[in-house]
Amino acid sequence: MLLEKILQSQGFGSRKQCQSLIKQGMVKIAGEVCDQPKMQIDPQNLQFQVGQQHALYREQVYIALNKPQGYECSHQAQYHFSVFELFPEYLRERGIQTVGRLDQDTTGLILLTDDGKFLQALTHPKKHVDKEYWLTTADPITSEQIQQLEQGVELRNEKGIFQATQLQQTSEHELCMTIHQGVYHQVKRMLAAVGNKVTELHRHRVGKFALPEELKHGEWIYLTPEQVELATVRTKD
Ligand code: URA
Repeated sequence: MLLEKILQSQGFGSRKQCQSLIKQGMVKIAGEVCDQPKMQIDPQNLQFQVGQQHALYREQVYIALNKPQGYECSHQAQYHFSVFELFPEYLRERGIQTVGRLDQDTTGLILLTDDGKFLQALTHPKKHVDKEYWLTTADPITSEQIQQLEQGVELRNEKGIFQATQLQQTSEHELCMTIHQGVYHQVKRMLAAVGNKVTELHRHRVGKFALPEELKHGEWIYLTPEQVELATVRTKD
């Protein structure tokens, strides 16, 4: 693959901008400056440097972010920060998108990718991937509420019923629960439907992939192919 094309594919600018970076001697491979934009290079496992930025060639990127509060999952965030501000420009340039959305006040695991097919497959309404949430409520959680959530509740303007599984009450006001669909404000609306109110919401797991403990708010990692598999495990039709 041409060096200029490799750089462009990794988000370092237009073809012209990449040619210019290369000609200026800004690009190094194995510590050596490569100033020939048309140089043919095998991109597989290629490690390179653009200015001070060290990079590894990735055909597609799959990312897990621990979303902080006060960040919207949209490019043109209106009232808060945008989660995309948490990423370097070369990743934004690649066109990464969030896989689904979390509310601005929800924290925790959100996946991002530039793989359109993957995104479509995972956000398809029929694709039921488990999502585990940890939530805090305004009022004490009652056993009736837990039972209702398990049996399923109706949500205004949505078809069908919405059930939670693997419910575990961890304190008077705290609950872990898993849902399988992903409609707008689903967890908050489910709790409202049983007469309570979510005051804090955190997503801990998608599919079988749990947020790594060491990942602090605002931090992100590239997923390995094995982690991508785990995050897409389908549990229910
Ligand atoms: N359910 C909600 O209500 N909000 C989220 O951010 C995610 C799930």
